Amino acid sequence: MAATPRLGVVGSANVDLVVWVATLPEPGETIRARRYERLPGGKGANQAAAAAALGMDTSLFAAVGGDDDGAFLRDTLNTYGVTTTGVTVSSRATGRALIAVDEAGENTIVIIAGANETVDLRNQPLEECDVVLAQCEIPVAAVIEASRRAKRFILNVAPALELPSEVFRACEVVIVNHIEARSVPLEDIENCVITEGAQGARLLRRGEEIFRCVPPEVHAVDTVGAGDAFCAALAVHLARGGALVDALQYATTAGALATLDVGAQGARPTHQEVQQWLSREL
Ligand code: RIB
Repeated sequence: MAATPRLGVVGSANVDLVVWVATLPEPGETIRARRYERLPGGKGANQAAAAAALGMDTSLFAAVGGDDDGAFLRDTLNTYGVTTTGVTVSSRATGRALIAVDEAGENTIVIIAGANETVDLRNQPLEECDVVLAQCEIPVAAVIEASRRAKRFILNVAPALELPSEVFRACEVVIVNHIEARSVPLEDIENCVITEGAQGARLLRRGEEIFRCVPPEVHAVDTVGAGDAFCAALAVHLARGGALVDALQYATTAGALATLDVGAQGARPTHQEVQQWLSREL
C-alpha cells in the first residue's frame, strides 16, 4: 500500500431532480411538491464525494454527457477534491434521478441511466488504486472488469443486479441493503454487510451473522445518499488499514451523519466529525 492510500470509485453520476412532499404518492395519486431542487447525485459520485470529505485521496471512474448537467457534476466533484480525470464524456445525456423525499426523510428514486450505460474501464488505471469501490448503476461488464483488476474490491450491490459468481469471489466485502440482500448468494460471500437504515448494519461471514452495529440517534432530514456515505466510509477505513468490524462502526456513524442535511451530497461528514461522534458513543 502507498504511503497515502488511494480509493477508486467506479459508478454512476446523476443529476438528482428532487421534490420534497408531505407523504410519498400512492400509485395513481397526484400530489403537490413543497419544494424542488436540482442537485448532484449518482451512487458513484456520491460515494466519491463522501470519501473525499473523509480525507481520502479519491478518483471517480464514471461517464457523463457533454451537456450542462455533465459540466455541473464534474465541477462539483472537483470542488470537493475528487479526481475526475476518469470521468469520460459520452454522446449520451448525463444520467438523471427523479427523487421524492417525504416528511420522515424517506425517499423513492427512479433513474434514467443515460451516459452511465457507457462506463468503460478498459483504459482506466484501476491498478493505481489501493481499493476499488463499485456499485451497480453501470454496465455489468464494467463491474466484472473492476472486480478482475482491483487490488482490493468492495461492491455495493445497488441496485440489485444479477452478477456472475466470480464477482462475489473477488469481493473483500459486499454491501447490500436489507432488500437487495435477497438478490445475493449470502453463503458464497466471505464478508457481506447488510444495511438496515436507522436499525444499523449486520456483518455476515458466509451467511452467518458475526457482528451487529447500531448507529447514533440523529434527527434525519433526508436519507438520500446515506447508504452511499456508509459505503464510502467503510472503504475509506479499510483502505487506511482498519479492521472490518471497526470499519463497520465508522461507516454506520458516517451514514447517520449524512442524513443531517438535504441532498445526496449535502451532508458529507468529515473524518473529524465521525471520530467525535464515535468517541461520544463510547
Ligand atoms: O443512492 C442515492 C443515489 O441513487 C441518488 O443520488 C441517485 O442519483 C441514485 O443514483
